[in-house]
Amino acid sequence: MSSMTTTHAPKGLEGIVATTSKICYIDGDRGVLAYRGIDIHELADHSNFEETCYLLWFCTLPTRSELKDLHQRLAAERQLDAAILTLLRNAPRAALPMDVLRTAVSALSFYDPDEKKADHDANVAKAIRLTSQISMIVAAYDRIRKGKPVVEPERSLSHAANFLLQLTGEKPSSTAERALDIALILHADHELNASTFAARVTAATLSDMHSAVTSAIGALKGPLHGGANEAVFRILESVAANGADPVEHVKEMLAQKKKIPGFGHRVYHTEDPRATHLRAMSRDLGQSSGQPQWYEMSRRIEEFVKAEKKLNANVDFYSASTYHTLGIDEDLFTPVFAVSRISGWTAHVIEQLDDNRLIRPRADYLGPEYPNHYVPIEKR
Ligand SMILES: CC(C)(COP(=O)(O)OP(=O)(O)OC[C@H]1O[C@@H](n2cnc3c(N)ncnc32)[C@H](O)[C@@H]1OP(=O)(O)O)[C@@H](O)C(=O)NCCC(=O)NCCS
Repeated sequence: MSSMTTTHAPKGLEGIVATTSKICYIDGDRGVLAYRGIDIHELADHSNFEETCYLLWFCTLPTRSELKDLHQRLAAERQLDAAILTLLRNAPRAALPMDVLRTAVSALSFYDPDEKKADHDANVAKAIRLTSQISMIVAAYDRIRKGKPVVEPERSLSHAANFLLQLTGEKPSSTAERALDIALILHADHELNASTFAARVTAATLSDMHSAVTSAIGALKGPLHGGANEAVFRILESVAANGADPVEHVKEMLAQKKKIPGFGHRVYHTEDPRATHLRAMSRDLGQSSGQPQWYEMSRRIEEFVKAEKKLNANVDFYSASTYHTLGIDEDLFTPVFAVSRISGWTAHVIEQLDDNRLIRPRADYLGPEYPNHYVPIEKR
């Protein structure tokens, strides 16, 4: 194989197929998303987050006893080393929860009983452990920064209910539990999105699961990826605070050539199937919580952006109003994305390591022509 590059790279690797995978199927033209071939709509209607995790990690839907076993393993991992809690307590109160999560996940490796192992079973064990721990870290840091006591986990609760309990100190209503559960299912995996790609690239060097997930969290944070949900709510909040018209606000953003967070997608050329569910959840939760304004503003913005720019809402647009009506603070929206996406990241790392080869693409060199000779500093 030649060591020279001969083709030109599409910007942002658009359309490039970078790996094979058996985890996630997307048809961007028809708006289809499926995990292991099962349509996301079926999973959102009938499954739960734990079962979805099983599907992602073990390639198939679980039997009743396999699901029970996974529930128990996830519940048993609801514990954080005291040193992690100390790290959370020592973080500056103003630190962004996403930054604290990134640092805490990196530190989790020090206390992981399987730290030195990288075989398939050890990686599955790490996936289960990290899924429980990430949810606990997000909830615990929010309590700590607000000067509230950390809430003990409740092992009998579902993943979604335990997260809300540890976040708010109260057992959630079944409506809130189910709403978060569906949001977790919808965010669980999305093929080679930027953070999953980052995780696979790190794992492929034969680094370790914690390094891969730390890379992924760093990538998820950005406003072009998971950070978009927080940016959406900042718009809604600013419109509400100023009594402004949401359409005028967005018009002004477009006039300033700004991108509207929560719209557009690299892969979907039609409605993002996750947005379909989140729109309905945002509407229903808004009505039942007596806060319909966030959905109504979102709807007006969506109609305008669709008409004006032909852009569809993506997963992040209605997750903003959904999470807000669930009582989740805006700077926790992206960490909550991670609470779900850890399932997909770890499934991809497991798949990568089960049949690994270093991921090392080439760059299309556009710099000064070779040879470009060294000039001594006194002659420059
Ligand atoms: C998701 C996203 C990063 C995809 O980016 P991409 O595939 O590289 O697409 P581009 O940024 O090249 O956009 C293509 C065109 O659509 C426009 N566009 C895309 N998303 C837009 C948005 N949210 N608001 C306004 N215009 C947008 C671009 O300005 C560009 O127009 P141009 O060709 O006239 O310059 C992009 O749509 C975006 O930045 N969206 C907002 C952030 C967001 O919601 N991210 C979460 C994704 S799930």
